[in-house]
Amino acid sequence: MLKSSLTIALFALACMPGSAIGEFFSMDPAPADRPFLEQKRKPGDIKKDKYGLPDPTPDVISLTHLPKDRYGFVDWAEAISTGVISPKSSIDGLPARLSPVDRERFDGDVLIRSGKEFMPDVLFPHSAHNEWLKCSTCHPRIFSKKAGASRITMTGIWKGRFCGVCHDKVAFPTRNCFKCHSVRKDAGK
Ligand code: HEC
Ligand code: HEC
Ligand code: HEC
Repeated sequence: MLKSSLTIALFALACMPGSAIGEFFSMDPAPADRPFLEQKRKPGDIKKDKYGLPDPTPDVISLTHLPKDRYGFVDWAEAISTGVISPKSSIDGLPARLSPVDRERFDGDVLIRSGKEFMPDVLFPHSAHNEWLKCSTCHPRIFSKKAGASRITMTGIWKGRFCGVCHDKVAFPTRNCFKCHSVRKDAGK
């Protein structure tokens, strides 16, 4: 009895147009949150509302609405792939001008075999990184363009080299061990 009335209540809530739940799941990318706003501003320009008056509300959307990984950190890769955010490729909104080395395409995953028996292997996904970075951000300064050629160590990463150039700084922290060490040792066999 209690269970069925709860089901009906939940069903009614889900069907209600414009209910809090409905709004959450139909959330558009950031700029569309307030479509009446003039989004094409020069850096430093004051934002105006539809009456042309200064609008003091922040441009950023709250992190609470973004998808989280299983450690509770914002899952930026999923935020992009599901369209919750769609970053511009440059501050002025124009398409990024790429040098010839950065026009090469490569979206493959690279399996980096772990040097230690007790640690799962590392899967490096190019696709998730290419959303944010140019090839020349990593090649050739941080990694060579050949699988297995960069001698990556965990202590090096913790000292801020290899993956540690970004992870622990601007990308998810290294204490999410298994987000990188994600491939079971026997998976490839
Ligand atoms: C940003 C990605 C990333 C994260 C997060 C990460 N690792 Fe690693 N780790 C690597 C890579 C790449 C290697 C080099 C390939 C290999 O040996 O597995 C590595 C290597 C290792 C090795 C092999 C020995 C060595 O020093 O090379 C161990 C052990 C290790 N990691 C433990 C950990 C532990 C424990 C955590 C969490 C506290 C962790 N790693 C988090 C990327 C990562
Ligand atoms: C975030 C850093 C990063 C970015 C950005 C990046 N790569 Fe890589 N790339 C790597 C790593 C790490 C490896 C593996 C190196 C190793 O195993 O020693 C790799 C390996 C490669 C390989 C060798 C693959 C193989 O199987 O031998 C190619 C080719 C490559 N990258 C091309 C590109 C191109 C083209 C771009 C730009 C579209 C790019 N990479 C962007 C980090 C990056
Ligand atoms: C030049 C900066 C940079 C370097 C170097 C770098 N990463 Fe990342 N990585 C990022 C950014 C930015 C993201 C996206 C934001 C986030 O997930 O925190 C990311 C995301 C990831 C993801 C999540 C992908 C997903 O689909 O959820 C993995 C896994 C990852 N990196 C592994 C690695 C490994 C392993 C290395 C070293 C071999 C490495 N990264 C080196 C910047 C970097």
